[in-house]
Amino acid sequence: MDSADAVNEIERAPDLQSLEALRVRLLGKQGEITAKLKSLGSMDAEMRATEAPKIHALREGVTNAIAERKAALEAAELKRKLATERIDLSLPAADSVSGTIHPVSQVLDELAEIFADLGFSVAEGPEIETQWYNFTALNMPENHPARAMQDTFYLEPRPGEDERRVLRTHTSPVQTRSMEAHGAPVRLIAPGRVYRSDSDATHTPMFHQIEGLVIDKAITLGHLKWTLETFLKAFFERDDIVLRMRPSYFPFTEPSAEVDVGWSVEKGRRVVGGQQGWMEVLGSGMVHPRVIANAGLDPDEWQGFAFGTGVDRLAMLKYGMDDLRAFFDGDIRWLKHYGFRALDVPTLSGGVGA
Ligand code: DAH
Repeated sequence: MDSADAVNEIERAPDLQSLEALRVRLLGKQGEITAKLKSLGSMDAEMRATEAPKIHALREGVTNAIAERKAALEAAELKRKLATERIDLSLPAADSVSGTIHPVSQVLDELAEIFADLGFSVAEGPEIETQWYNFTALNMPENHPARAMQDTFYLEPRPGEDERRVLRTHTSPVQTRSMEAHGAPVRLIAPGRVYRSDSDATHTPMFHQIEGLVIDKAITLGHLKWTLETFLKAFFERDDIVLRMRPSYFPFTEPSAEVDVGWSVEKGRRVVGGQQGWMEVLGSGMVHPRVIANAGLDPDEWQGFAFGTGVDRLAMLKYGMDDLRAFFDGDIRWLKHYGFRALDVPTLSGGVGA
């Protein structure tokens, strides 16, 4: 069988099933090309030297042709589905529909709405992360004590990998990934799931964070404080939100500040707003020059601020839940009590609070 014949047959495969059959016939364990590859072992050196490149080229050509045909068949299939499976979205929902929006989804929508109004885009990153992005690029080199602080889940290395990847312990790696991908200036939020080996009433092994990052030429701590104040006022829908910034330490910011928000007691309940006491809500700071450099930007040219906070915790504070674990129990009674109607889409003009 020569390469042209094989490619010809692949290009004429009428559907995904026959393409798969062809793949098995050519490249499977007992496949024709696999047999040729195996035969290299019994050739003398001279023959192998002439045959090996031919066989490898054949395998590569066939592999590529299969991938191309597969993509074409899948695209055709999608087109067919889109044309035939129409849904009339204007039909009214049936009375029996009882699903509700989970408070975390609701709060994520609220946050995206608030920050979109301030000109922030939404960025995402992978939940399975390399140690470089989760730690090293964020100025936490190996043996840095902060690595041990985060109760990290490590994955078994895949064959050929010498480093274990991790379930990301925070959304901060999206900082580096976004600067790398899009350069500067940057104005983004990065919401998403994060993982730590920890479990009690206020900790679950998976929870949600949101990261903020602003990089430009002349960004200062003043911009950071204004942004956080504006965000928290919009989120809690109160003007009497008071912030206090306390000097702190994070490896990826310098200087670093923990941000407390004032609380007061209303109708026997502690609520955000006023100034009877303080509670910590955010970590933040000016992005460390090393973090900017690790993302491929020149820290003499670019600077900015970052912040990070727990989304579930924000939901608890705003909507008055007291046990984080209930968020992830999947108990329909809890969701009925705290969930949001599907059509309550948060808008700034209508009030983000549903
Ligand atoms: N990544 C930190 C954590 O998970 C939170 C954080 C603190 C994010 C300060 C930031 C920051 O961007 O500037 O504990």
